[in-house]
Amino acid sequence: MRIFVTKNYQELSYKAADIVEDYLKNSSAVLGLATGSTPMGLYRELISRYENNGLSFQNVQTINLDEYIGLDRNHLQSYHTFMRENFFSHIDIPSHQTHIPNGLAEPLDVECSRYEKLINEIGPPDVQVLGIGENGHIGFNEPGSKFSSETHVIQLASSTRKANARFFDSVDQVPTHAITMGIKSILKSRQILLLASGTKKAAAIKRLLDGGIDEKFPASALLQHSDVVLIADREAWSEVS
Ligand code: F6R
Repeated sequence: MRIFVTKNYQELSYKAADIVEDYLKNSSAVLGLATGSTPMGLYRELISRYENNGLSFQNVQTINLDEYIGLDRNHLQSYHTFMRENFFSHIDIPSHQTHIPNGLAEPLDVECSRYEKLINEIGPPDVQVLGIGENGHIGFNEPGSKFSSETHVIQLASSTRKANARFFDSVDQVPTHAITMGIKSILKSRQILLLASGTKKAAAIKRLLDGGIDEKFPASALLQHSDVVLIADREAWSEVS
């Protein structure tokens, strides 16, 4: 694992954008993307480079990690909406080249197989951007998820629903289930770019680096991948001795 510790979130976002931009030199790059607060600075920086430095996404394909089950793609809190509002609608990527699981599909197991097939056909991603949950989840692979899992339906941990309640009016409105790329699907990516910002992530980063490989801590699966780059800001790094 290569590790960069940055002085703040802005520097973390620049560093992550530099890495992603390198892949975009190959115009047909495949990017694995995440939602949540952590990659927002990265997306802002990539948008700025598109607007000011001629960075283009015209031939890029994107594959997102996950989507809530039961939310229409136009729901304010769906990950389709998140990606459209925070990234896709600000760059020149054709929408048919962006891929996110369909949380309203029926039956869901067919959607999971379709998505895994898509990852294998279009991908695997050259680089997969990941955040980390306070409980060590990656994608929505909660503690106890099998490292051999491919795209599947998962029941969200109550701690995850609470953490994500900040985007909804109340925790009751946070969906109980999601479709997520599995840990095996994530590990297919050629490179993994794990981003961690803020003191809330400090314990998870310490656990990742000190705790060994264990399905109770999903992010520890990344220790089995040969090309992981961790970018943590000083706050997220603060518990590492
Ligand atoms: C998002 C995702 C999640 C988040 C994680 C951290 O697509 O799959 O694993 O990366 O919950 O979320 P934030 O960045 O909001 O702290």
